[in-house]
Amino acid sequence: MRSIINIEVEKPIQINDDKPRVWIKACRTQDLKNSDLLDFDHEDKKILITRFDNKIYATDRICTHAYADLSTGFLNESEKTVTCPLHMSNFNLESGRPQNLPAEDPIRVYKVKVEDEWIWILIEK
Ligand code: FES
Repeated sequence: MRSIINIEVEKPIQINDDKPRVWIKACRTQDLKNSDLLDFDHEDKKILITRFDNKIYATDRICTHAYADLSTGFLNESEKTVTCPLHMSNFNLESGRPQNLPAEDPIRVYKVKVEDEWIWILIEK
């Protein structure tokens, strides 16, 4: 099921000067139900957020094969994958690796933390 919410972005926190990365406040945990697929944009990044069994995943949401939006794809809970809606490559949500052709390159996977019932995503600037 696809769900779109209104997401706030707070001022980023610089945590590393050598490789600038920032935690982005994405959405409240209560707004992300099990098996939801949320699309989240921050600057030029297009991110997918999903949740299985209280584990939250954040990845790039544009397929590496061609330009398809994975937030309109399909989740497979037992395999922890999202399936591209265009040519059906499955991407592992933990590693980002495609499990089948035609996609060959992985999607980026982002670190996630939960603080005070908010979901934060660590992104490189
Ligand atoms: S666009 Fe995703 S597999 Fe082709």
